[in-house]
Amino acid sequence: FSPYFMHIFLHIQLHSQFTVTGTLALSVFTAVLGSMEFGYNIGVINAPQKIIEKDYNATWMHRYNEPISEGTLTSLWSLSVAIFSIGGMLSSFCVGFVSEWLGRRKAMLINNLLAFIGGTLMGMSKLCRSFEMMILGRFIIGAYCGLASGLTPMYVGEIAPTSLRGALGTLHQLAIVTGILLAQILGLESLLGSDELWPVLMGFTIMPTVLQMSLLPFCPESPRFLYIIRCQEHHAKSGLRRLTGRQDVGDMLAEMKEEKRRMDMERKVSIPELFRSSLYRQPIIISILLQLSQQLSGINAIFYYSTSIFTKAGVQSPVYATVGAGVVNCAFTVVSLFLVERMGRRTLHMLGLAGMCICAIIMTIALALLETVPSMSYISMLAIFGFVAFFEIGPGPIPWFFCSRVSLFDIFRLQDLCGPYVFLIFAALLLFFLIFTFFRVPETQGKTFDQIAANFHHNLGGTMDMDLDMDLDKPSTELDYLGDDSN
Ligand code: GLC
Repeated sequence: FSPYFMHIFLHIQLHSQFTVTGTLALSVFTAVLGSMEFGYNIGVINAPQKIIEKDYNATWMHRYNEPISEGTLTSLWSLSVAIFSIGGMLSSFCVGFVSEWLGRRKAMLINNLLAFIGGTLMGMSKLCRSFEMMILGRFIIGAYCGLASGLTPMYVGEIAPTSLRGALGTLHQLAIVTGILLAQILGLESLLGSDELWPVLMGFTIMPTVLQMSLLPFCPESPRFLYIIRCQEHHAKSGLRRLTGRQDVGDMLAEMKEEKRRMDMERKVSIPELFRSSLYRQPIIISILLQLSQQLSGINAIFYYSTSIFTKAGVQSPVYATVGAGVVNCAFTVVSLFLVERMGRRTLHMLGLAGMCICAIIMTIALALLETVPSMSYISMLAIFGFVAFFEIGPGPIPWFFCSRVSLFDIFRLQDLCGPYVFLIFAALLLFFLIFTFFRVPETQGKTFDQIAANFHHNLGGTMDMDLDMDLDKPSTELDYLGDDSN
């Protein structure tokens, strides 16, 4: 993966006046290995679903001398898929606390233990004839991913110079989609998605963990953390020097000093206060809704279940169509990477939501007409590809700029309940998020902190008389700190 990311770094370098030093590239690459692992675990249970279910059945037979009932099997499988999100949801609450207590770098390092345990449990579950181990493993790896999905954008956002924050921030999402694609390819039956090898597929998640653990000691701790949280000016300075390759880092230090001054002046607020005070309510609601627009868009219905969706849609080679979705997903994340600093985040987000909404409607119509018009299977496949492409234009990468993870969503058994009409629910949600973005979300591209704050001030009709301590351009925002204080 390093040549692939090096290529991207070179492109980013070409389009900016800022030098991407070796240390910066290494640090970002190392951090996004965590994102890749997150993506890997999103995509990994998609293709081999039937094969793993067969093993669950074999275990059941071995234990109870009778085949598992369809309902129990569906429940066990749904639990294996969904518990990942529960682990992620729980651990994501700890991101703020852990990252301040241990520092960003050490937190990432220690988080790898979870990946190690989770990967081992899943990898050994077949050998031990225990679907419980698989389920527990998915929970623990989910917890790893919840932490990683907060820590990675936080660290990358803090070590990236302002002019590169957008492009480098998108690398988090790029690594996620790369992980999804890797899992989909390795999950092919001819590779690791077979009866015998699926445990290797599950345990493979340990590889990026080992790589990240061996590279992290060579990456500097976030200077922003060292200076603002730990008050270690000297260490912060040397980190900045390593990351920028410049001797004189006075301007960056001054920027952090100003930020620290503002933060020191801030009163600590509790979570209920965040919603009560008009000062914070609007930005926090925007952050939450943007993140929800990502998670409730229906994208994970595709990435967890596309193989069965393609099968239901009558597509000839559903597993290859799944890989196709992964390729489209990666390609459009790269497109977004180059558009994000040109077109603006709000515009891209709205474009993505609108496109997804239209694709969801086409997909529903195509699936509903499938019985009478067999060629509809192609239309539904194209609609799914379009759905994924539009997701990566906006709702995939953009919410990470606004805040760290807020929640994870999984369709759980919704698919069984609603059949092809499940995507109508997503279409309605997408329309809602589109309208919300149009009326409520400000453009933050190229804006300074003060301009963003002024924007909110204006929206509140002048009721806000102090600065908003929130830079919407940062993947790790002060919301993390606000959250911590109340923990
Ligand atoms: C984002 C979402 C994740 C989704 C992925 C698809 O990273 O957070 O839930 O599966 O995009 O590319």
